[in-house]
Amino acid sequence: MQENRSPIMDRIAEANKAATTGIDAKDIKDWITIYIMGKAYTVPADLTILTAMEYAGYKFVRGVGCRQGFCGACATVFRKKGDYKLQTGMACQTRAEDGMYLVQIPFSPAEKAEYDITKEPYEASVFIKHYPEVTRCVSCNTCTKACPQDLEVMDYVQAAIRGAFDALSEASFDCIQCGLCAIRCPAEIVQYNVAQLGRRMYGRYGQGVPEHLRKRVKEIAEGKFKKDMEKIIKCSIEELRKIYTDREKEPE
Ligand code: SF4
Ligand code: SF4
Ligand code: FES
Repeated sequence: MQENRSPIMDRIAEANKAATTGIDAKDIKDWITIYIMGKAYTVPADLTILTAMEYAGYKFVRGVGCRQGFCGACATVFRKKGDYKLQTGMACQTRAEDGMYLVQIPFSPAEKAEYDITKEPYEASVFIKHYPEVTRCVSCNTCTKACPQDLEVMDYVQAAIRGAFDALSEASFDCIQCGLCAIRCPAEIVQYNVAQLGRRMYGRYGQGVPEHLRKRVKEIAEGKFKKDMEKIIKCSIEELRKIYTDREKEPE
């Protein structure tokens, strides 16, 4: 690695420009060495893991989506130079560092129960029925440490066991279903699917239907938006684009 490096934001901008536009390598000042599945590659410094791997020649067909940390597709496992810890994160949100050992986890094969929430009991037994392995939780907190969203994963699993649908829903709300908690769990619990069941049940039974939603559903049933919908269906792509661009926006 080069000494006297340029400021971080300049390096990130330069590296990303290099990766996306194919700028001549001689114009890039800072380089690092990363190891992808054991093989060494020299890439511009300060790229994300995802972009660094692409720069090295990997093409992602699966295991990538939004590139913004929302879709949960780019789960990654890495170890930093001189560190015994195996770490987890989202490849599009984690900066590649010199000496990193990397591998992508594009998919976690996980059990996903099928159920009809209108026929399920609104109590803790629903989790035991569909995901009995939750009772095997040993409270090791490994899932929490693995979560790139910094969620209290162990706490929401415990909330499921207690049948605390509200606490589970609140604690798991920002889950992006990346699967990293599940692949580290010694009890082989699929935390995110447990949470999804809990949130669905809470939405159906715990919260009730809000008044504004009830009103809007009634308006739709009465045909209040029928004319507008028919107009939109007939629009060209350009007209739709204009409607979208000119739409009323929520204040930022
Ligand atoms: S990793 Fe598994 S066993 Fe450990 S706290 Fe999380 S859910 Fe429980
Ligand atoms: S709870 Fe699990 S699946 Fe959800 S974001 Fe955290 S690690 Fe990913
Ligand atoms: S690509 Fe969507 S979270 Fe990384």
